[in-house]
Amino acid sequence: MAFSNEEKRNYLAELNKQSELGGGEARVKRQHDQGKYTARERISRLVDADSFLEFDKFVKHNCSSFGMEKTKYLGDGVVTGVAKINGQKVALFSQDFTCWGGALGKAYAQKICKIMDFAIENKIPVIGINDSGGARIQEGVESLAGYADIFHRNVQASGVIPQISLVMGPCAGGAVYSPAMTDFIFMVDQSSYMFVTGPEVVKTVTHEEVTKDELGGAHTHNEKSGVAHFLCEDEDDCLERVRELLSFLPSANFQKHSKTPTNDSTKRINTSLKDFIPTNSKKPYDMKEVIMEIVDDQHFLEVQQGFAKNILVGFSQVGGHKIGIIANQPQILAGCLDIDASSKAARFIRFCDAFDIPLLTLVDVPGFLPGTTQEYGGIIRHGAKLLYAYSEATVPMITLITRKAYGGAYDVMASKHIGADINLAYPTGEIAVMGAEGAVNIIFRNELKGLDGSEYDKKKAELVANYETEFANPYKAAGMGYIDEVINPEDTRSRVYNYLEFLQNKSVLRPNRKHGNIPL
Ligand code: HXC
Repeated sequence: MAFSNEEKRNYLAELNKQSELGGGEARVKRQHDQGKYTARERISRLVDADSFLEFDKFVKHNCSSFGMEKTKYLGDGVVTGVAKINGQKVALFSQDFTCWGGALGKAYAQKICKIMDFAIENKIPVIGINDSGGARIQEGVESLAGYADIFHRNVQASGVIPQISLVMGPCAGGAVYSPAMTDFIFMVDQSSYMFVTGPEVVKTVTHEEVTKDELGGAHTHNEKSGVAHFLCEDEDDCLERVRELLSFLPSANFQKHSKTPTNDSTKRINTSLKDFIPTNSKKPYDMKEVIMEIVDDQHFLEVQQGFAKNILVGFSQVGGHKIGIIANQPQILAGCLDIDASSKAARFIRFCDAFDIPLLTLVDVPGFLPGTTQEYGGIIRHGAKLLYAYSEATVPMITLITRKAYGGAYDVMASKHIGADINLAYPTGEIAVMGAEGAVNIIFRNELKGLDGSEYDKKKAELVANYETEFANPYKAAGMGYIDEVINPEDTRSRVYNYLEFLQNKSVLRPNRKHGNIPL
């Protein structure tokens, strides 16, 4: 008997309803009781109203082990599709914890791969919402293969389209490596965690007692390990901040950025910066205040805010030009470069370079952090990442030295010599091999040797003053052309804007090669 059109429509409506119910009302309630949204609720809160187009709503697994043939959720535990966020097209997948704890099987992985392939081919960002018990145990090696298929695509997509991961529940075992290979990881306080092995295994192997949250919670990965980039109060905060991040990103590589209109005048004088840099070069100040004063509408989206706080990185715009900012923070460790700061900044620079986001570097750096912890931990290798990242970048690069630019750190922090286009300094800039005290102790050791008491102090003060007059300024570097212009702080915003305008069509040729060998 043939079905009428109405019956066919009703059947479709019934299938849609079934698919939308996921693992059923009881499991949805459990999800809500834990303060978590469902996979679909997350999508609908993230994307522009009525913009979500769902793929593969009726996909089912084909597994018959351990009684799996009796349970087949339509959609197989992951919601995938395309949508718009702030009008920008994106592809997304959202793992549904209400179906087998969001565990990943073959069909589920194929759905994710399909959406990733679509994103790569159509040059749109991909957003993954993770909430899963990992490999679907009943599907065995097919789930492992599914993960590997996703990992492989993460790498193919890297540098082609932005990849964003939201961790909104468990993400454990090898499953962590897909988010880890994406560009940005958002974690939600209290309800998300990531670890390679959980607390039980840790206890068995190392005898350490640690909670899930201590081991791999949002604070741990945003403050200790540097695995995550954004720590969010709750799911709503997380979804809102993903929207904010996307507003700074292009859809894919090789796409010309459009300027965002702003009412913040590019001629605005930065009066508050006039005497902001302390005359005492040992006195700290908050570099974030300098950033806020320069950028449009004081809007700076800081990335990895809680990790390696001695360097600041984040997105902003000046006169509508979207930029990535890297800045030493004199308030923390005097702004020294250490292992974590180097790798944090290097990764950020490489992201910006891959997606043609110009870089503004603000420099106040006394050097690399000394000590055995740093040397044994490989500061040479990690510091080299930062040097490498700046040196390989071909985006427009503007550097401003606000105060100290000492030693190797002067070279590394986007100096002219490693490829910056415009190098500026304030009159308070101090560009030298090292600070005055250290330099005098070395080069005048013999003169100071026989002296003691007030005689020593007087001679040392005189030598330090001489050194400061000679070197603690930007004019030696400016005299060599290493600094293009010494500017007054109140002119910073307009200068940065004007130079960004001139650098719009920058194009650089690099030698042909398969890829470089960044010190990993
Ligand atoms: C199949 C799973 C599952 C899994 C959970 N479930 N994890 N089903 N495969 N991996 C099911 C549960 O049986 C349960 O089904 C439902 O999901 C919810 O799980 P609960 O345990 O009730 O939830 P909760 O108490 O919140 O605990 C969540 C959890 C826990 C911490 C994730 O379920 C858990 O530890 N699961 C196992 C995690 C794991 O070891 N995964 C494999 C990791 S190895 P019902 O029917 O009762 O609702 C891995 C390798 C990846 O992932 C390798 C990539 C290369």
